[in-house]
Amino acid sequence: MRAVRIHQYGSREVLRLEEAPMPSLEDGDVLVKVVAAGVNPVDWKIREGHLKEMLPHALPLTLGWDVSGVVSAVGAGVADLQVGDAVYGRPDIVRNGSYAEYVAVRASELAAKPATIAHATAASLPLAGITAWEVIVRQGRVQPGQRVLVHAGAGGVGSLAIQLAKWRGAHVIATASAANRDLVLSLGADEVIDYRSTPFQQAVRDVDLVFDTLGGTVQALSWQVLKPDGLLVSIVSPPAEQHEGRRGAFVFIGPDAEVLRELAALVDDGVLRPLVGAEFALADVAAAHELSESGRARGKIVLHVGTP
Ligand SMILES: NC(=O)c1ccc[n+]([C@@H]2O[C@H](COP(=O)([O-])OP(=O)(O)OC[C@H]3O[C@@H](n4cnc5c(N)ncnc54)[C@H](OP(=O)(O)O)[C@@H]3O)[C@@H](O)[C@H]2O)c1
Repeated sequence: MRAVRIHQYGSREVLRLEEAPMPSLEDGDVLVKVVAAGVNPVDWKIREGHLKEMLPHALPLTLGWDVSGVVSAVGAGVADLQVGDAVYGRPDIVRNGSYAEYVAVRASELAAKPATIAHATAASLPLAGITAWEVIVRQGRVQPGQRVLVHAGAGGVGSLAIQLAKWRGAHVIATASAANRDLVLSLGADEVIDYRSTPFQQAVRDVDLVFDTLGGTVQALSWQVLKPDGLLVSIVSPPAEQHEGRRGAFVFIGPDAEVLRELAALVDDGVLRPLVGAEFALADVAAAHELSESGRARGKIVLHVGTP
């Protein structure tokens, strides 16, 4: 089968579209014929070797940990999926990924693909959607009327976090560049801060939850906008657990089929609209990585891999 693999860590030049062995199934696995694969910043962070201490990968490695496709074979011990089922998921990140015609995935990590969207849109949702759910729903426990600040509201995670926070009844403030203002408003944000012209810490206050998608200075300044009992959750770098009474938390998500089912229901109910900003052929994976690495992607990036 064709797959995009790396044989060494490095820049985009190490991406190789090549013939690779068909994945072998372990007990509990299904073989998914990949229709589309999502691209996430973690893909190029792994490619560059930044996460090699944390994630034990064997090389060569097939990248990509967002998939939408069709079950084409079922391993031993799998009872709830059958050949032909349309599924989507964020597979285990230490195994070979979805930039390939086929990927082996634990059945327990998959859910039925949302029925009302194409595979390419479904492939954009698992990793970023599980992340947004973890922060807004599980950690943040956002309640109606609370004030939520979402940094990078135009990004893959931010564009979903805005929608989930609105669904929970929050007043949502998002940061974005001026070019993405209308996009972020269309996702449901109540206020948009152009972070390039306005220091957000001067424009926002009394926030219950800060969703930190950027780390660094943005994280450090975010304490200032929180209520005294507010919560800062980062998905980039661990904040202090306490800062003048305010709480901090870090999240690194894993596979989560339960949340995938919640997200699919919201999509099929018309509540959640995954935003795909750029689509590429598998052969153009380097261009997809270049866009992701730029930090300027709008919504999600997906690769078209095969047919259902
Ligand atoms: N811990 C976890 O489990 C987890 C899960 C998912 C993602 N992550 C990490 O979270 C980060 C965000 O992921 P993502 O997929 O959302 O990234 P992304 O889609 O690549 O983010 C791109 C967006 O960031 C915005 N942006 C860039 N600099 C900004 C700034 N200073 N202020 C406000 N917006 C800014 C850009 O909007 P403008 O062009 O308008 O500036 C662009 O729309 C990445 O580092 C990723 O690795 C971690």
